[in-house]
Amino acid sequence: MPPDYLDDEAVSAWTASGAPLVDLLRRAHTPGRLTGFRRGGRAAVLVTEPRHVHQVLGVGGERYVKRSHRARPLLGDGMITATGEAWRSQRKLLQAMFTGRGVQRWERHITGAAACVVDRWAERARRGEPTDIAEDVQFFTVDTIWRSLTDRPLDEETYVDLAAVQDVVAALPAEVGGASTLPPEAEAALAALDERMFRALADARVRHRAGGAGASVLDRLLDAAGTDPAYTDRLIRDELVTLLTAGYESSARTLTWAFVLLCEHPEVMERAAGDARAVGAVLSETLRLYPTGWLLPRHSPADETLDGWAIPAGTDLLVCPYLTHRDPEVWPEPEVFDPGRFPVRSPLPPGAYLPFGMGPRACLGTRFAMREMEELLGALLARFEVEPTGPVGGAVFGINLRPAGPLHARVRERT
Ligand code: HEM
Repeated sequence: MPPDYLDDEAVSAWTASGAPLVDLLRRAHTPGRLTGFRRGGRAAVLVTEPRHVHQVLGVGGERYVKRSHRARPLLGDGMITATGEAWRSQRKLLQAMFTGRGVQRWERHITGAAACVVDRWAERARRGEPTDIAEDVQFFTVDTIWRSLTDRPLDEETYVDLAAVQDVVAALPAEVGGASTLPPEAEAALAALDERMFRALADARVRHRAGGAGASVLDRLLDAAGTDPAYTDRLIRDELVTLLTAGYESSARTLTWAFVLLCEHPEVMERAAGDARAVGAVLSETLRLYPTGWLLPRHSPADETLDGWAIPAGTDLLVCPYLTHRDPEVWPEPEVFDPGRFPVRSPLPPGAYLPFGMGPRACLGTRFAMREMEELLGALLARFEVEPTGPVGGAVFGINLRPAGPLHARVRERT
């Protein structure tokens, strides 16, 4: 049976309206059915049912592939955009640094970076100055990943160049097949970022050659370059930018979303203060409502059958955790922020909760991300009361799902 496609007029009306892609997806979404739309001669099918998600990303993770990636202008051939054998060997090289025990090596970087933000808030509280939480958590996540990549602390100048990556991310197309040329500001940000990366690489190489190799990701990549010609300077740059972008952007936006939700629910904020378990639940529920990877596109190069639905070769499959996480069958009153849902009491159907994706291309940094977010959110809530001083912006559905604008707040030491 073919999927139900929206009629072309509805799609043209959406295109003419300039509305974001999520509006079209909401429109196409029909629980229990496989639905989609056609544009410019291409078919796109929306995948939201947990069992379909599991089939596409989990069981079919090798069959449904990533097509030319929307982020290629930024990430080059790094691990997120790579496919096939190249991806397999890139992932194998770095996997051990980010799973299980591997993450313990980053512990001092994470606690060190969290302590810097706590100090900054203590100073703000003493002076009675407001702070921008979105900026503070972003500094933290850039700091943790930069220390892990290079074994070097983050200075302000480097931070400015690295954080400008968000201008590039914001300029990337949210849509599969969207325009791949960048506006001039984004090109300039990309050039500054590249210069920073190649300088870090050159410095590390000098240390490496002098016998001063450390335990950073960059050291690991330089080791690989010594034996595998695939690791050119360009690929090392691509891998560094990939880990930087994936590593800071999603964690920073998730922490900001968490504060947005906590500011809207001060009673939850109070309960989470000093309670590590409650902090973990707040983060899990934040990731349910606002999975920064809200859309995970795949492509079917061959004819497939998905749960009885015919998927012709050439179809794009739009896995949408944002809509899956709002399935009322799995999450009663799905729009309500309720950290009490976590930890879940009975096992969820596979594919029902996937803020970090699933299957072979699932997030490499899941443990790193959860550890750093729990550390910072736990440390800040335990010590400070937070009160927003401005309106909290809405959601922007770009290549990732981010809160619009800053999050200004007053912070006070708990008495
Ligand atoms: C809250 C934080 C984070 C979230 C929500 C998140 C989410 C995701 C998701 C959904 C994917 C799968 C994309 C797809 O299937 O198309 C992914 C992939 C990836 N993430 Fe994360 N991520 C986070 C933090 C991190 C961190 C801290 C790192 C690095 C230290 C990282 C590195 C990666 C990499 C390298 C991939 C690509 C894996 C591959 O294709 O083999 N992420 N992430």
